[in-house]
Amino acid sequence: MTVLVVGRGGGIARAVTLAARDAGAQVVAAGRNQDKLKAAYDGEPGITTEYVDLTDEASIAALGERLGTVDHIVSTASARARGKVADLDRDAVRASFDTKVIGPLMLAKHLAPRINAGGSLTIFSGVAAAKIAVGTLAVAITNGAADVLARSLALELAPVRVNAISPGVIDTGAWDGLGARKDDYFRDVSERNPARRIGTADDVAQTVLFAMTNSFVTGTTLRVDGGEPLT
Ligand SMILES: NC(=O)c1ccc[n+]([C@@H]2O[C@H](COP(=O)([O-])OP(=O)(O)OC[C@H]3O[C@@H](n4cnc5c(N)ncnc54)[C@H](OP(=O)(O)O)[C@@H]3O)[C@@H](O)[C@H]2O)c1
Repeated sequence: MTVLVVGRGGGIARAVTLAARDAGAQVVAAGRNQDKLKAAYDGEPGITTEYVDLTDEASIAALGERLGTVDHIVSTASARARGKVADLDRDAVRASFDTKVIGPLMLAKHLAPRINAGGSLTIFSGVAAAKIAVGTLAVAITNGAADVLARSLALELAPVRVNAISPGVIDTGAWDGLGARKDDYFRDVSERNPARRIGTADDVAQTVLFAMTNSFVTGTTLRVDGGEPLT
């Protein structure tokens, strides 16, 4: 079984890559930064690296040519555009959609015909679409589009299964930009959400494996968010 994981060499992409490999798959970790990816998986058996930039359709088509066929595809790539409306930068919003919505759509265009019987495509959404808040509008509309993309692709690409994963707050380094406020933010979320903790990359990786392997799950968004939208 071959699994393609698009993203960086750390965070959720790494947890998915290692979990799929440990479950017996040959994993191709693909992303923009070959040096970082190679360093991240140096000496790891069952994992090879490839180049792809999800904002570049030609690089997606070329990756498909090199792969030949594949069983499961997971796209974790993301470019966030956080901020209030008055501060949102047009290019940042476009990059967010380009990376998390149009990129996965182009992955489907070029790679779905290469997915073996029983295979799947898993893309990433996020809790911002389920819990509307001031300051995360662009993240929310990007994730909302990813949710609809998963449902649309599931219908059109059937029997290839397509799902979205919606993580809550996961400590992957993605929040390091908050600086000194990160600890306070994590404490606040942990005190409010029903799970009473921040999520881990492994929480999310196990959900991805479920989406990949349960042949009756398609066209849905699986939330792994500690119940945060209820708060
Ligand atoms: N962490 C959380 O709390 C959280 C919450 C909700 C949703 N999510 C979603 O879960 C997924 C994984 O999150 P994460 O925190 O592990 O990672 P992340 O920090 O969101 O990293 C995503 C990575 O995608 C890669 N990327 C960006 N543009 C790309 C492109 N054009 N082509 C290929 N790769 C590209 C970048 O890696 P390079 O810089 O190495 O290229 C980037 O570091 C993302 O979709 C994220 O939005 C995460």
